[in-house]
Amino acid sequence: MKVLVTGGAGFIGSAVLRLAVARGHDVVNVDALTYAACLENVAEVANSPHYAFEHVDIRDRPALDVVFTRHQPDMVMHLAAESHVDRSIDGPGDFIETNITGTFNMLEAARKYWTDAGKPESFRFHHISTDEVFGSLPNDPDVLFTEETAYDPRSPYSASKASSDHLVRAWQETYGMPVVLTNCSNNYGPFHFPEKLVPVVILNALAGKELPIYGTGANIRDWLYVEDHADALLLVAEKGEVGRSYNIGGENERSNLELVKALCAILDDRRPKPSGSYADQITFVADRPGHDARYAIDPTRIRDELGWRPSVTVEEGLAKTVDWYLANEAWWRALQNRQGVGERLGVKA
Ligand SMILES: NC(=O)c1ccc[n+]([C@@H]2O[C@H](COP(=O)([O-])OP(=O)(O)OC[C@H]3O[C@@H](n4cnc5c(N)ncnc54)[C@H](O)[C@@H]3O)[C@@H](O)[C@H]2O)c1
Repeated sequence: MKVLVTGGAGFIGSAVLRLAVARGHDVVNVDALTYAACLENVAEVANSPHYAFEHVDIRDRPALDVVFTRHQPDMVMHLAAESHVDRSIDGPGDFIETNITGTFNMLEAARKYWTDAGKPESFRFHHISTDEVFGSLPNDPDVLFTEETAYDPRSPYSASKASSDHLVRAWQETYGMPVVLTNCSNNYGPFHFPEKLVPVVILNALAGKELPIYGTGANIRDWLYVEDHADALLLVAEKGEVGRSYNIGGENERSNLELVKALCAILDDRRPKPSGSYADQITFVADRPGHDARYAIDPTRIRDELGWRPSVTVEEGLAKTVDWYLANEAWWRALQNRQGVGERLGVKA
């Protein structure tokens, strides 16, 4: 199978590419190489005869037509997006252009290619989205996001992703294009760009800097190891029912404060400080405007219909992640010089 993956130089897209090549698929990585991209993320597959790279922006529709014609994919896995909520608060325009207009371009380029090919039933357009489209949950363990939860996005990022989800569904209803969708909870793991919470905590801890916690740290997220997400995505791409969406989550709810303390405990074990704990570096800072209180996924559908289960607990996954950052200093040091990394963003509202 030949899979066209957008955003394959990013965090999750690169995990999908590495896994897809390991499973014997041909892949085409379409990426504009924004500030969030790093081709090192796909270095282990870059020389494979099963890998091709197209330096293309999904806002460029003619370039997308060339890519489809050149590579003739059996399937699209669309991950390219602006993905950082704090940046969406400071500059929502890029989120509208890439996440909404870019997805529109991808749908139209895919529709032309699929139509010209005689509308094969086997073609798939897999749109990768987030649980943030569902809004914010109360702190009640019985209330979870299901595939039927009404959309209620509350940040420029989640609103742009919700818009793209609606476009993808419309292309199936209106044009009959075979689509599948997934909405996933917070990912963590190797190659996570050093502006997101988990790498920020690990890297600030090692540098002796403050570990910034927004508000009181009570906001709850459902954490999933990125390689388990990649596994779920390939499963849905291959076995998911056309027109259906699947929620993907690790059933690992943690408050931000609990998560940060867990990372500190792992670091205390792996690289002890001369005295005290990394948790001593925790500092509470001004909250994010409109900070959603809780996200939690009910993964019953993907578990019961497709048999997917995460392979690691959050404790195992966080330990693997810390070990990866300790072993890959050259990777993250190079990215720390990029624009905005290490700065507090998203407080202008
Ligand atoms: N990170 C998470 O926890 C999470 C959770 C659920 C869903 N998602 C979704 O998964 C997808 C990937 O997220 P991520 O965390 O890997 O993001 P990321 O920011 O690490 O990577 C995004 C990639 O997309 C590329 N890109 C951005 N704009 C582009 C454009 N206009 N044209 C072509 N390429 C472009 C970037 O260069 C980068 O390589 C996104 O759609 C995101 O909404 C992420």
